[in-house]
Amino acid sequence: MSAIESVLQEKRVFPPSAKATSGAAISGMDAYKALAAEAERDYEGFWARVARETLTWHKPFTKVLDESKAPFYTWFEDGELNASYNCLDRHVEAGRGNDNAIIFEADDGTVTNVTYQDLLERVSRLANALRKRGVKKGDRVVIYLPMSVEGVVAMQACVRIGATHSVVFGGFSSKSLNERLVDVGAVALITADEQMRGGKALPLKSIADEALAAGGCEKVKDVIVYRRTGGKVAWTEGRDVWLHEIVENESATCEPEWVSAEHPLFILYTSGSTGKPKGVQHSTAGILLWSAQTMKWTFDMKPGDIFWCTADIGWITGHSYIAYGPLAIGATQVMFEGVPTYPHAGRFWEMIDRHKVTIFYTAPTAIRSLIKVSEADEKVHPKSYDLSTLRILGTVGEPINPEAWMWYHENVGKGQCPIVDTWWQTETGGHMITPLPGATPLVPGSCTLPLPGIMAAIVDETGQDVPNGQGGILVVKRPWPSMLRNVWGDPKRYQTSYFPEELGGKLYLAGDGAVRDKETGYFTIMGRIDDVLNVSGHRLGTMEIESALVANPMVAEAAVVGRPDDTTGEAVVAFVVLKRTRPEGDEAKQIATELRNWVGKEIGPIAKPKDIRFGENLPKTRSGKIMRRLLRSLAKGEEITQDVSTLENPAILDQLGEAR
Ligand code: WT7
Repeated sequence: MSAIESVLQEKRVFPPSAKATSGAAISGMDAYKALAAEAERDYEGFWARVARETLTWHKPFTKVLDESKAPFYTWFEDGELNASYNCLDRHVEAGRGNDNAIIFEADDGTVTNVTYQDLLERVSRLANALRKRGVKKGDRVVIYLPMSVEGVVAMQACVRIGATHSVVFGGFSSKSLNERLVDVGAVALITADEQMRGGKALPLKSIADEALAAGGCEKVKDVIVYRRTGGKVAWTEGRDVWLHEIVENESATCEPEWVSAEHPLFILYTSGSTGKPKGVQHSTAGILLWSAQTMKWTFDMKPGDIFWCTADIGWITGHSYIAYGPLAIGATQVMFEGVPTYPHAGRFWEMIDRHKVTIFYTAPTAIRSLIKVSEADEKVHPKSYDLSTLRILGTVGEPINPEAWMWYHENVGKGQCPIVDTWWQTETGGHMITPLPGATPLVPGSCTLPLPGIMAAIVDETGQDVPNGQGGILVVKRPWPSMLRNVWGDPKRYQTSYFPEELGGKLYLAGDGAVRDKETGYFTIMGRIDDVLNVSGHRLGTMEIESALVANPMVAEAAVVGRPDDTTGEAVVAFVVLKRTRPEGDEAKQIATELRNWVGKEIGPIAKPKDIRFGENLPKTRSGKIMRRLLRSLAKGEEITQDVSTLENPAILDQLGEAR
């Protein structure tokens, strides 16, 4: 609650400068209000107009929104298009083939420019090679690649032939990769020998081999390997092929597969409140339309701008704001293979300087960690670099605390650049609530107002609107084109997770708590209301980590909660009961390390608990429910003020209070 209070007390307001407003796509609050009013007045007409103006249709749509199978909505369903055509061909056809699409900077600093013509040819070659190997419309292809031009090429090649991709973040374990390969029913896997991060080569192919050997992926016929480092890898003849070899003799042109607007563009797994991640299924026109439109509205992207989104292609941000949005509008973007601290913590600022970046989009957690190092070392401080090309800054993934916001504003933006604090989710496909750089007066810590056409609201547990100033549940009242269409293979879960009966079955439940300011109506996000943690802007299900811990033969029981963390936003704290007696001292430390590595193996390093505590039992109610609120207090090191009279063994509170 303290974060919310500090935002609610936030009185600093930063109106857009005349420079930011002049020539902006949405210039001034009146322009914003006019667009929002247009959407209110004629919802379908508004979306149809935007969809016609933004995308190139092979066959125009005649229907806009179909609500007859709600909450399984469809948009522009009888329209046909191809995502790759919209991202590549149409710019080349317009004579812009020599414009840079991607300025790629490798971990070691090597820079490669890829023009739209180059990209189209590379995508076409791989698309032809995939077709030749029998991959066809509707097939699922899993992509397990590092940040690379090949990653974007692989995504674009899949959708060019109507295949649906599912990108798995390169930091996920073989077990997580296996689960996703099985659940999505992949026919092919595109991976790399190794990935380079912070000067180190990390394995990918060997993890992929393990994932494939773990069973259930018999449908995977081809493993296509991008040679990134040339490191030694095991090879399964007849299954494994080098990417550079299969594209060598392919034609540089490839007829796109025209698909329905509703055709699944990709499936991206994300954590929910159960142990099993959800395959969030997105549509072709929805993602394309909204990622392109928000590039223009939220980032005010214009010809000559250089955009840089630091997210990984393994997350939704890397889908909508690297692989699709920037390309759909023909932008030039920087893409970075490495980490912000290598070879030094000034890398981001150095790269903005080197590539003359004008629009920079990153995560609050990165900003917070860079504040610490740059305040300690002038050489890596933003002031040591020329950041004068910057005109717009953005953040995403978690709430940004006003202090970090102010630092970003003053030190990176030199007080001149609007900050767009974009609230959205894997499920929403693109920005939902965000300031507009040429219109919205900014308040640090608030994501301000919904984009035109997005009917965001705050309700109570019964689905009734709450007045401004009162906290509640964040919902979206009407379907929008870039929303998820389904949970892959689990329509029931789609319905119960996102359109729960308790709220009337018609409101989209985001899973966040929020409050609107009494005077301005500005939204402030209060964080998740379900059992989902947000660590460094990554979503982790507490149940998922608990299941991973319990899968360890030593562990009898485990409960996982979040604790506020200065750098990562939230940190994972695990309370563990072992099958043997409770360990103490060095032994406890050693087992904690073992369990941490175990979770890294089961899910991925991002899910490793920061803190593991051992008890003889967990605090439970008489009915056997774990008292999570109490665990959260213990995790924070707070004095226990709750009623603990129902606890069987109050001594365990002392045990669980000790950090390891
Ligand atoms: C959750 C979604 C959106 C792409 C990256 C994360 C939190 C996201 C903000 C923001 C406060 C935010 C929410 C949301 N979140 N952006 N600007 N302010 N919170 O996508 O993994 O699907 O996570 O991230 O809690 O529900 P994701």
